[in-house]
Amino acid sequence: MAARMWRYAVRINVEVPSIRRLAGKRYFSQEPTTVTLIPGDGIGPEISASVQQIFAAAQVPIVWEAVDVTPVRGPDGKTKIPPEAIESMARSKLGLKGPLATPVGKGHMSLNLALRKEFNLYANVRPCKSIEGYKTPYDNVDLVTIRENTEGEYSGIEHMIVDGVVQSIKLITEPASRRVAEFAFEFAKANNRGTVTAVHKANIMRMSDGLFLQCCREVAEKHKEVQFREMYLDTVCLNMVQDPTKFDVLVMPNLYGDILSDLCAGLVGGLGVTPSGNIGADNVAIFESVHGTAPDIAGLDKANPTALLLSAVMMLRHMGLNAQGDMIENAALTVIREGKVLTGDLGGKASCSEFTEAICDRLA
Ligand code: IPM
Ligand code: MN
Repeated sequence: MAARMWRYAVRINVEVPSIRRLAGKRYFSQEPTTVTLIPGDGIGPEISASVQQIFAAAQVPIVWEAVDVTPVRGPDGKTKIPPEAIESMARSKLGLKGPLATPVGKGHMSLNLALRKEFNLYANVRPCKSIEGYKTPYDNVDLVTIRENTEGEYSGIEHMIVDGVVQSIKLITEPASRRVAEFAFEFAKANNRGTVTAVHKANIMRMSDGLFLQCCREVAEKHKEVQFREMYLDTVCLNMVQDPTKFDVLVMPNLYGDILSDLCAGLVGGLGVTPSGNIGADNVAIFESVHGTAPDIAGLDKANPTALLLSAVMMLRHMGLNAQGDMIENAALTVIREGKVLTGDLGGKASCSEFTEAICDRLA
């Protein structure tokens, strides 16, 4: 796993003229890799097209295989992801995904979750780093939440006991807890990060969170070079909004990670600018933007592609294409830092296409 674990911490904020030459060389000497593209709903197709345009301008050796994941009805009457989409992912083992609409309380199960489950993408990685030029109340935030992605409160085991009484089961297992803890420490080492904090409520959920915490402690023993801390979830929330610079890598069960990763994204500008990756065994991975589908601006060329683009940059690092990843990230961050061509949500007036063009122009 470590071999292909991308190095997220390395950010080159200077122009590197030789990178394009290197990238070009690699492009000609290397077979392009197929990546499954799930453009998604609402603004998904526009922001996906933006990423494709930037990747083409950067001559990234990738062939996109676009698939539709509009649910189909199986013989049992249940809705599911179309088999073509599953087959494409199974072949490529790499996906980039835009936002998918999730129904609340009815209709089909969240396709976001279905994809994570189908490919056993057990670690959800969300880096949150302050963006120069995009001012928020917090500076110098640089942390990564790692969320257990397959079980916990998201197991989907719910039932009604009697009318008016519903039970939902939080499932915590030793293998899933251990592998995500292992991932967090390997990630910390591969990215030169000093501390892993296990986030839990083992004072209340003594058995379930207790098991998760115990696994983290045992894994920490094997990685003495990384400092290990354990903290209650509520204390983390309190301390996080007081001083997020005190945090580095955090690892936690599923629901805590869902909530805390949104909170952390809020510290650096929100879900429109924060990337995410779902990683499984054998390097299978889907990188995705985790903002909504923004139906109000869909098709109007107003969307901000940054979250999907930075997710795609995470994917490049996962593939070992660090030079291209750095080049694209630098270009996007430069455009934001300069503040001249920004989409509406970033405080500007530019369209998605203008913002995309500006990034392509900054590729050095
Ligand atoms: C996320 C999203 C999903 C989740 C939804 C869309 C099912 O909020 O990726 O964080 O809750 O995991
Ligand atoms: Mn979420």
